[in-house]
Amino acid sequence: MKSVVAPVKNVAATQIAFETLLQRSMGVPGIGLIHGPTGTGKTTATTYLYNQVNGVYVSARAHDTTISLTSRIVEELGAPPMYRISKCVDYIIEQMSMFERPLFIDEADYLMNDTRMLETVRDIYDGTEIPIILIGMDQIARRISTRKQFYNRISEWVEFRPADLEDVVTMADYLLDDGIKVDEELLDNLRMSSSGELRRITIGLSKIESLALANDLEIVTLDDWGDQPFHGLRG
Ligand SMILES: Nc1ncnc2c1ncn2[C@@H]1O[C@H](COP(=O)(O)OP(=O)(O)O)[C@@H](O)[C@H]1O
Ligand SMILES: [Mg+2]
Repeated sequence: MKSVVAPVKNVAATQIAFETLLQRSMGVPGIGLIHGPTGTGKTTATTYLYNQVNGVYVSARAHDTTISLTSRIVEELGAPPMYRISKCVDYIIEQMSMFERPLFIDEADYLMNDTRMLETVRDIYDGTEIPIILIGMDQIARRISTRKQFYNRISEWVEFRPADLEDVVTMADYLLDDGIKVDEELLDNLRMSSSGELRRITIGLSKIESLALANDLEIVTLDDWGDQPFHGLRG
């Protein structure tokens, strides 16, 4: 398997939303929200993006507080520890503004229970007006809509959806070793049995690739695969 990011629809939607944030008109707020179920490729898509745009990326954690989160952003920016929230926030605002570095906060669900953390992210946005992208799971969109001050600053929403057949074909084209093809019928089976989750599709594709290599197959069909599971135990 190749270790590349396949340009599936969710990846394209993320890029477009980010471009829209960058090019927004005066007065349009610049916070973006990416949300969707686990395994749909949110972290992969945003990691790919922030590397291209010199972004700053942090992943929130269950026990984060305002100081631990802002300290990690400061660390990501390459500065020594600062110990005070106000110092951290000032530094983050200065760096993001000076170098036009957008901020990506993954696992942002962990911010939702903590008003102070949300307000701090809002302060960072208001102090820079540089795009901030929050990445979270299913419930984040609903939960954030009750935080009006924050909600009103979001202008781009991307909902990550399960892969469709075209996405699975794209994944196969990009990830499988050269010379290995998979029949669409088998790919559609993989899509259904993985509920369109890219994480499980990746595991299934690697198993299909092993089968192709072991049996010297150029194209793997549903018949070649049989009824073995793609992932985990037989149901
Ligand atoms: N666009 C993609 N191209 C290739 N592999 C991908 C892609 N998106 C996801 N994957 C695979 O699926 C796994 C899970 O994706 P991840 O980005 O962690 O999902 P999420 O953050 O939504 O839970 C990744 O580790 C990677 O192996
Ligand atoms: Mg993730």
